[in-house]
Amino acid sequence: MAILPIHILGSDVLREEAAPVTEFDDELRTLLASMYETMDAALGVGLAANQVGVARRVAVIDAEGQRFAMINPAIVERGATRSAAEEGCLSIPDIYGEVTRPDAVTLEAQDAEGKTFRLELTGLPARAVQHEIDHLNGILFIDYLSPLKRQLMLRRWKREHDGESLTWTPSPEESETAS
Ligand code: CO
Repeated sequence: MAILPIHILGSDVLREEAAPVTEFDDELRTLLASMYETMDAALGVGLAANQVGVARRVAVIDAEGQRFAMINPAIVERGATRSAAEEGCLSIPDIYGEVTRPDAVTLEAQDAEGKTFRLELTGLPARAVQHEIDHLNGILFIDYLSPLKRQLMLRRWKREHDGESLTWTPSPEESETAS
């Protein structure tokens, strides 16, 4: 168990489509324990494996008392209503933006032992689950912002961080539609 370094916007692994987990072994349990420790240390409400450099379909959530690991997660049902709320991301420090998502979702995933479970979620846990599953598909919340808003935020970030910059590149999905 260890606190793992978190990959920041510009790192290629954040744009990778994570591979399904097939072995529910000690290696997976060690990864999960380290991911919980990393999320807790960073005060996050969720963390996807891509964010610690591992492109596998694994994420942990800790939002409003809902604390669980999700392996090979999928949204199997979405509520009819959608809301906008501000999101941030441990991989995109100091940048926040409004993202519109379904208010309620039904999650289907496997636990650390490979057992399938279903959870009906609303509010912050529902949002966190959608945000983390996006990570596993190489998608970041900043992708949902308008190009202008995104550019302004990245410029401001650069100003506030002594010229250091965050590199945004399109998600795999967007590059496909663009080509
Ligand atoms: Co994130």
